[in-house]
Amino acid sequence: SPSLAELSAGKGMRFGTAINTGTGSTFNDNNYLNLVREECNVAVAENDLKWQAIRPSPDMFTFTGGDALVNFAQTENIGFRGHTLLWEDETRYPSWFDTYDFGADPAMEAERLLTEHISTVGARYQGQIDSWDVVNEAVNPGNGAYRSSPFSRNLGSMEAVLDIAFQTARDTLPNTQLVYNDFMSWGTGNAHRDGVLTLLEGMITRGAPIDALGVQSHIFAGTGNFGGIDEAAWRSFLNDVTSLGLDLVITEFDINDQNLPADIATRDGLIADYTTAYLGLMLEYSQLRDVLCWGLVHRYSWMQNFQPRSDGLQKRSTPFDDSYQPTPMYDAIAAAFEAT
Ligand code: G3I
Repeated sequence: SPSLAELSAGKGMRFGTAINTGTGSTFNDNNYLNLVREECNVAVAENDLKWQAIRPSPDMFTFTGGDALVNFAQTENIGFRGHTLLWEDETRYPSWFDTYDFGADPAMEAERLLTEHISTVGARYQGQIDSWDVVNEAVNPGNGAYRSSPFSRNLGSMEAVLDIAFQTARDTLPNTQLVYNDFMSWGTGNAHRDGVLTLLEGMITRGAPIDALGVQSHIFAGTGNFGGIDEAAWRSFLNDVTSLGLDLVITEFDINDQNLPADIATRDGLIADYTTAYLGLMLEYSQLRDVLCWGLVHRYSWMQNFQPRSDGLQKRSTPFDDSYQPTPMYDAIAAAFEAT
């Protein structure tokens, strides 16, 4: 049967997954890489291109992990997404920022650090990375306001951070898709989505170069077909985003089955139902470019550590089990691409 790469290509789209280097990681598992080879026409760095990995100190760049992943994608002739040139949650900044001396002109030094980082990392993978998450998670999910970060404090506003980051990325990489990436949570009504929309509208109004919204899509299997998602509010948000002229990318899809029944057949069936409902809605948007899962195989998924099940069972958040066999979630993804 056709692969997800073939099925997505039939829709003019791409299917892919996150991959990660390091001890015990997916990149060292040849069975996992074979799944990528068979099923994916794009991949993304789960951790290797974050400041934490690539910028261990202010004057040092370590490209080892990023180079390995990008070279793999080149060898396999698949696309590659960069994640992320800046993660605006300050708990995700490398620890050296805690004591960094921004000097007599902190705004100038913050701009220098930020533009240096984006132009250096961007240029390193020019022509090899076709889509970058330029900024990740700049909005506080609790109230929709901008987060506060070392860069936003020193530059005076998050708007300044966004504009400098995206303009530097565009100047360095004129032909690369530039993405703002966020998870649009549902815990506090519409606050998170309203904040993301304000961010995007502001960028468009100011003429900042942005091409797409990255919709992470960590779907919580809660109440109803769409889990915690209010379908009407979600469609309204997507309509507003696409009305701005932006494309959509599903950047980190998985299903959080924390509260689903233990029985595997029952659970897998429900996970497939959530997948069908969510991807069916998203594929209604012609602006949707790519669909990437945040991992393919259960045991490597970040979901095993995030909100673990109270019964201690392994979560089944990804389309392949630990024997590399497709689950009903896989069939649901395939069917979503096949549907007209
Ligand atoms: O590599 C070290 C290892 O050497 C060390 O022994 C171990 C001990 O904690 O840590 C390892 O690093 C961990 C890394 O994952 C690699 O496994 C970090 O602690 C851990 O914080 C890191 O978690 C990642 C997380 O982002 C934070 O960067 C997850 O793998 C990754 O899936 C997750 O991805 C995020 C996206 O970037 C943004 N959207 C949400 C998504 C889920 O949180």
